[in-house]
Amino acid sequence: MMKKKTVRLTLYRYAGRFLFFRIKNRCKECDIAYTILQGLMNEQLRGKTVSLRIVPWLDNFWKVIWRGGWHAPILTVNGRIFSQGIVPDIPRLLSTIGKILNDKSLVQLGEAKIAKAASPEKDSEITVYFSPACPHCRQLLSYLDSNGIKYSGRDVTKTESARKDIERLTGRLTIPVIVAKGEVISGFDRSRLKSVLAISDDDEKMVKSDTRNIIPQFTNNQLSKIYQNAINVLNKNKLDGWTMPSNRLYPHLWNWDSGFISRGYLHYDPERAYTELRSLFRGQWSDGFLPHIIFNPEYTDHFPGPDYWHADNSGKVPSGIFTSGISQPPVHATMIVESVNLDPHKERALSFLKEIYPKLKKLHDFYFTERDPQSENLVSIVHPWESGLDNAPLWDEPLAAITDTSEWALSMQKKYDELSEQGNRPKRTYIEKYSYLIENMYKNDYDWRKISENHPFLIQGVLFNSILYRSELDLGKIAENIGYEAHIHQERADKLKAAMNKKLYNEVDGIYYNYDLVRQKHIKRDTIFSYMPLFAGIPDKDIGGVVLDSIRAHCFCIADMDCVAIPSYDMCQVDFDGEFYWRGPVWVNINWYLAQGVRQYGETELSEWIENSLIVLADRFGFYEYYDPESGKGLGEKDFSWTAALIIDLIANRLKD
Ligand code: GLC
Repeated sequence: MMKKKTVRLTLYRYAGRFLFFRIKNRCKECDIAYTILQGLMNEQLRGKTVSLRIVPWLDNFWKVIWRGGWHAPILTVNGRIFSQGIVPDIPRLLSTIGKILNDKSLVQLGEAKIAKAASPEKDSEITVYFSPACPHCRQLLSYLDSNGIKYSGRDVTKTESARKDIERLTGRLTIPVIVAKGEVISGFDRSRLKSVLAISDDDEKMVKSDTRNIIPQFTNNQLSKIYQNAINVLNKNKLDGWTMPSNRLYPHLWNWDSGFISRGYLHYDPERAYTELRSLFRGQWSDGFLPHIIFNPEYTDHFPGPDYWHADNSGKVPSGIFTSGISQPPVHATMIVESVNLDPHKERALSFLKEIYPKLKKLHDFYFTERDPQSENLVSIVHPWESGLDNAPLWDEPLAAITDTSEWALSMQKKYDELSEQGNRPKRTYIEKYSYLIENMYKNDYDWRKISENHPFLIQGVLFNSILYRSELDLGKIAENIGYEAHIHQERADKLKAAMNKKLYNEVDGIYYNYDLVRQKHIKRDTIFSYMPLFAGIPDKDIGGVVLDSIRAHCFCIADMDCVAIPSYDMCQVDFDGEFYWRGPVWVNINWYLAQGVRQYGETELSEWIENSLIVLADRFGFYEYYDPESGKGLGEKDFSWTAALIIDLIANRLKD
């Protein structure tokens, strides 16, 4: 019997170690090659006798160097070098594999694509760069089809040259991109398309996408059931004085989690909401700083625990309390300002607000004085985890620029490898940088001014500043309620808003970008966090409209049938990953903010859709830490407290109406 032919693909990524060398930087081509090859294995090569192995290059370089392979990513086909230093040419690869396997369909698939990519229809004035997996691309192609517009399409997952073209045309790897009559249009930008393609209002045919049909409306009975399930989750995670984010991975008290959780409690047990915040502020340092973790002394094996933070070096930690040494977004004033409306005992609410106001004020004072190194009225963060968005693509470049290494990175790595087994968590690449930043802070005794002079990570964050702005306004409301001066809060908020609009808003893209104070530039990554100023009311009406257009022009799942709620990262980015912690999944807190944001700028239906989507996710899949926007699958921790608390808030508001 003839032996069945097989193909072995091996991708050597730019990673690994050899003797004393260790590769620290990431290689974009390697990431793209990896994603595309995985896609091929799941689609065109599914069921074929083809295997794919991904290996770190530096550990294995000797296997390929003698065949002339020295520049990762290196792809070998049955041991022979197919390409190196670039993303492999996929049509050629398909045709090569087809020839080995004697599979005509693969050969044709490859050759047909080569022919098409090499000679786009000459008479067509319009070229569309797309990927089949990107929802906005599909929407754009249907729009062009329904309006009878001819175009030549170039699938960026198939050809290297198409990817090079879009990078050259737009400076990024974002799709869809249309080149029409000499103009380059990024995203599905209907108004520009209409004007460039001369489609009149009367003639325009829209693509059908009625979001109301996808997401069911709930009856009050159904809502009450989900509400009760959410309360059960909080009960499950409740300890004596506070509520854990989840009872497996997060057994301590987390800063912004407690804020969100207190909002949930306000609806059915206000006293408990006050207890939650009291417990959190027990960890406030004498300079006003509020740590991101107050450690639960009963769980000693959390990593990194108190011994790693050396918070005591600061001389500012309340005695008997163990804390981390970084903070998290100050959501608390916004979460608790509603107590006067929600607590049936108004006197109790006012008395708590009187108790908490000085602590909140001290926290905000801390940010404005200690974390604004250039006195710009913009607050900066000193560690990715301080943003709350630990693993967001926003931090890739600033982290890659850090070259120093930490003394105890190795022990961190081992621990993190163990942790990453437990979920989709960042792997080794980032750990050294995270730990170096912590080390630099405790070695400088958490003296923030000193730190701001030598720290390699100082970012003026869009989400962080938006949350602070809104909390500052809400602190003003709290002050009014208890009969204190409120104007200082309004003044500080006004200055912060002006600074955000001046420094973080990018007029050309209609987006707010984080600013990297070390490298002195905007971080231009298309994450959903760029749009958070909407919820805080930071853009004026006109700019708000532009920002909304920009969300629509990106792939954030809006009104698309194939995904649900708003993902954290633009789905058209080549490195979008719907299952990877902060790099694609839907987060309930972020969507909760967004729903309020778009509503404030007139998008009531969209806001409804977002909120309904969240309730659907919780109902069908459970109260997860995050969700895959395409399948809805719950990911990360199960029975996650802030998901439950914010669903309680959404449902309570609905039942009230
Ligand atoms: C993760 C999240 C962070 C959250 C913490 C506890 O680290 O990135 O935002 O506060 O978990 O839930």
